[in-house]
Amino acid sequence: AVRWPGVIEAYRDRMPVQDDWTIVTLGEGGTPLLPAPVLSELTGCDVHLKVDGANPTGSFKDRGMTMAVTAALAEGKQSVLCASTGNTSASAAAYATRAGMTCAVLVPRGKIALGKLAQAVAHGARILQIDGNFDDCLELARKTTSDYPAIALVNSVNPTRIAGQASAAYEICDDLGGRAPDVHCLPVGNAGNISAYWKGYRAYHADGVVPELPRMFGFQAAGAAPLVGGAPVKNPETIATAIRIGAPASWGTAVAARDESNGLFAAVTDDEILAAYRLLSTREAVFVEPASAASVAGLLKSSAEGTLPRGSLVVCTVTGHGLKDPDTALLTAPDPEIVPIDPTAVAAALELA
Ligand code: F0G
Repeated sequence: AVRWPGVIEAYRDRMPVQDDWTIVTLGEGGTPLLPAPVLSELTGCDVHLKVDGANPTGSFKDRGMTMAVTAALAEGKQSVLCASTGNTSASAAAYATRAGMTCAVLVPRGKIALGKLAQAVAHGARILQIDGNFDDCLELARKTTSDYPAIALVNSVNPTRIAGQASAAYEICDDLGGRAPDVHCLPVGNAGNISAYWKGYRAYHADGVVPELPRMFGFQAAGAAPLVGGAPVKNPETIATAIRIGAPASWGTAVAARDESNGLFAAVTDDEILAAYRLLSTREAVFVEPASAASVAGLLKSSAEGTLPRGSLVVCTVTGHGLKDPDTALLTAPDPEIVPIDPTAVAAALELA
């Protein structure tokens, strides 16, 4: 086995880097493409999970952050700034630390999952909460970086982030032996990731690496589904805080991905998200955060509604690790039981399980 070098070195010819740049990496990418037997059985498809919670900071954001922070360092920026529902802030904080840059993150007050906050704290970022939602945070981040050129904006409106995130599409095609899936399911919030995947698939297709393109299926939480409804949502609400976004920045490229790929956008309710979340952890043994389960909730819904052809080769990206959001994991959990110090009691518990 050869050591995985991170996504920039793994796909250097496809990344916007110059020879003399210092690459800022934490070894991101190279994540598992895991067969999902239970979901395959339920849908009559061949379903694989792209487990991007296995990245260094526990989400797909690291793929883009290695590129964004590498470019920021090369451009002589001193600090990085992002708006975030949590994962981008954890990733920015880590990569800024690696680059020796300072970092501030703008987050909606009280609306980011505990694990993500812990990460930003651990990496020493300045955490700035505002009384507003993600969309307000992004607007403020954009204004600040346009007024202060020494600060790099590392949201997915930064094209280098998209170039880095396209690596996930390359990995999937490589792992599938030189083909794309028939259908790719993703959770959609600010819509950077679906834009990045589509860019990656198109690049591989244009270069003849894969013969066909996938259909892109994007799923939003019902309370935060502007792309499904076709208009921004003023007060987005969902248990999947990562995708609690009402005005996606990459609207145009996401719609193009759907239209060009003959794909679809659909909404999944919080109950459907939680059902998929539990199915993933209890039956596929893959622990994800709620937003990630939206792709699987959407897969199951499309299958039930007949919009997903049986027999398809499907990849669902599960975007973030379950440990990001311990509160949701423990939402309905009983307190751990207390047992006597006695093997029969321990064995009895297993028999009951
Ligand atoms: N899944 C997770 C776990 C996320 O954190 C996000 C976005 C998405 C899906 C949606 O991806 O925005 O590219 O459509 N999180 C951003 C953040 C907004 O700030 O961490 P998208």
